[in-house]
Parts: sequence; C-alpha cells; structure tokens
Amino acid sequence: MTKERILTGITTTGTPHLGNYVGAIKPAITASHNSDLDSYFFLADYHALIKCHDPMQVRQSTKEIAATWLALGLDTDNSTFYRQSDVPEITELSWILTCMTAKGLMNRAHAYKAAVQANEEDGEDPDNAITMGLFSYPVLMAADILMFNGKKIPVGKDQIQHVEMARDIAQRFNHHFDDLFVLPEAEVSEDVAVLNGLDGRKMSKSYNNTIPLFLTEKQLQKHINKIKTNLLEPGEPKDPDDSTVFQIWQAFATEEQSQYMREQFASGIAWGQAKKELFGLINDEVGPARARYEELMADGAYIEQELQKGAVKARSYASGLLKKVRAAVGIAPILS
Ligand code: TRP
Repeated sequence: MTKERILTGITTTGTPHLGNYVGAIKPAITASHNSDLDSYFFLADYHALIKCHDPMQVRQSTKEIAATWLALGLDTDNSTFYRQSDVPEITELSWILTCMTAKGLMNRAHAYKAAVQANEEDGEDPDNAITMGLFSYPVLMAADILMFNGKKIPVGKDQIQHVEMARDIAQRFNHHFDDLFVLPEAEVSEDVAVLNGLDGRKMSKSYNNTIPLFLTEKQLQKHINKIKTNLLEPGEPKDPDDSTVFQIWQAFATEEQSQYMREQFASGIAWGQAKKELFGLINDEVGPARARYEELMADGAYIEQELQKGAVKARSYASGLLKKVRAAVGIAPILS
C-alpha cells in the first residue's frame, strides 16, 4: 500500500500562537508520528516575502517556527520537514506552472481581490502596493503542492481556494503535456477549533490579539488576564458559549474538563478564577515543551541540521519529478 501523502506549509512571518497550535501545529505533529501517512511540512519562506520586507523578521520567524515544531516533538524521520528555499526545484516548477496559468484565474484569487478592493475603498489606484508576488502567489503555492504530489492539503478555510487553483493548474498541465501531477484536495478539519483571540475576534497576528505559544509562566498568565470578558460579578451565572475564556478552555480540555467548566460558569465562577484555571490547563500542556524550545532557540545549528536533513529528502523526490516535468515541456539536453 502506498502511503497517503499530506502536505502543508507555514508562512514564516510571525511567532507561533495558541491558535496556530490548536488549529495546525498539534494535528500536524500527531500526523508526523502516524506511520500510515507520508507527511511533508515546510516553512514557506518565499511566501513570507509576499507580505514582509523585513529580513530580520523573516529570519526570526523561520527560526521560531522550526524550533516550535521540533520542541513539540515533530517526528522528522517519519515525516519530511524542510524549508521551501532549500528546495530550488519548487521555484523552478513555479515558473513552468506560471506559463500554464491563466491570468484570469489569478484575477479571481481572494487575497488579490481583497487588496484591490481595499485600494478602491481608500480612493487609491487599484494596483497600489500590489506586487507581482501577491498576484501570482497561488502559482507558487501550486508549485509547493504539485512538486511533491501532495494529495491531502490541511489548510484553514481561507486557503481552500488556493488549493482548488493548484488543482486547476495541475489538470491543465496533465491534459496538455503529460499526466505527471496528482490532483490535490484541501482538507479542512471541522473538529479542530478556530481559537478566538484576546479581543474575542479570531486569534490572528493581523489583529494583534494573539497569545504566543511559548511565553514564560508569568507572561502567559498576564496574556490570559487580558482576555476580554463582560462585567458580571463573582456569583453571577455566566454564559460559556459567549466567552473566549471558555472557548479557549474547551480547545485544551477533555470532555470532562469542559463539562466541569460549564458547571463552574453556571454557578458563577469569578473571571479571575476562571482565568487562573485556564492558565493551569494551558501551562500543563505547553509547559513541558517550553524548556526544549528555549534550548533549541539557543542552538540554531541543530535546527539548521534538521532542516538540511529534510531538504535532502525533499529534493530527492522533487528532482526526479522536475526532470520529468522539464522533459514534458521540452526543456531537455540536445542528444542528437
Ligand atoms: N499560503 C499558506 C498560508 O498562508 C501557506 C502555504 C504556502 C501553504 N504553501 C502552501 C499551505 C502549500 C498548504 C500548501 O496559510
């Protein structure tokens, strides 16, 4: 039986937070240990350049994300963990796919359309500050996926359209040249929570409302204390389903623990107490990896070595497929 190949990328622009952990990192670490799966996880550093032109930030984020995944126990032998820029085959494929991608398809991409709309609303030229990187980003993402014949692509809802575009591009290539690419499918897990942030909106770096994953205990408690609540006093019953404190609790809790906290809310637990208990729950889960994270952050050479190990594995697959792709489009040595 050939193993199912799952593949996903993480753009290296931010510091991993609890929302990333619950929604993407934790399921990926679990998948990395599953011997029925062939998982590819990569740091999408060329994607970072689309929205970030601060070299320090790209470097720091790349290191933090790699250290986070390793500290949490990613199995880098049973999976392939690499940095996009270490696999030049991907960017080479990206150009070949660019030449097979209709401009009209890219015009329809949500991220690009949202940027145009924002310009129009601000009375700016529609093209203001829009780079070709932003415009053609779905092609790079298609190359990320197709270069490894990734089949299942775990992503957030905002990325479904890009995976569908990758599928369109693959179909077009297969039809015109040769059946070289597996058609990918987005996998949006319904049972993983999308966490709310400090202000009650979705936890996201762009809203500046995140709780970073690896904080000192003191900082973690401080962040949790900042979660927005209402003015209900201790003793007054509170609605768990309208509370970010409960929402985050639930994402880390067992069934029983969720039930317990529901009862506490009903009987009027004080916000301060609920937050204290939330701190304990999160700290029990991430605390053990914290020391390992700090160790790794102080040992860049080790992180680099892990990434190079991944790059070798990734390239050994990519180079074989790219050779076929080049031949299919007519880029080949002159033999006679
Ligand atoms: N664009 C994705 C995001 O912003 C990250 C990403 C890059 C990705 N390449 C990918 C995800 C390939 C899945 C497959 O979240």
